[in-house]
Amino acid sequence: MTESFPFDRLRACTNFRAGDLLPSCGAVNAKELATALKEGIEARGLPLKFEKVHCMGRCHLGPTLKLLPAGPFLLGAQPEDAERLLDMLEAGDIEAATTAFPNPDAKE
Ligand code: FES
Repeated sequence: MTESFPFDRLRACTNFRAGDLLPSCGAVNAKELATALKEGIEARGLPLKFEKVHCMGRCHLGPTLKLLPAGPFLLGAQPEDAERLLDMLEAGDIEAATTAFPNPDAKE
């Protein structure tokens, strides 16, 4: 992670909605992903604060992650992707992270 890395927080939605009417991150392994990311951040000593939140409005595209402040959404990562994602963040390669876990709603 370079000194110019502009983000200091990684926010993860772990909301779970029972039933099939509305999608939720918790229904697609968000809690397991959050655990893997939190443990990975701690193990690597990355200067990223990890936050769990209830929803970020991307429920149909989750698990939903967001870099803060004012960073991109990272969508659809699974627990087995956690180490690869942390490799990208540690290297400061945000473009690789947003390519691997894209936000289809993002403006060009
Ligand atoms: S349930 Fe995760 S963004 Fe809404």
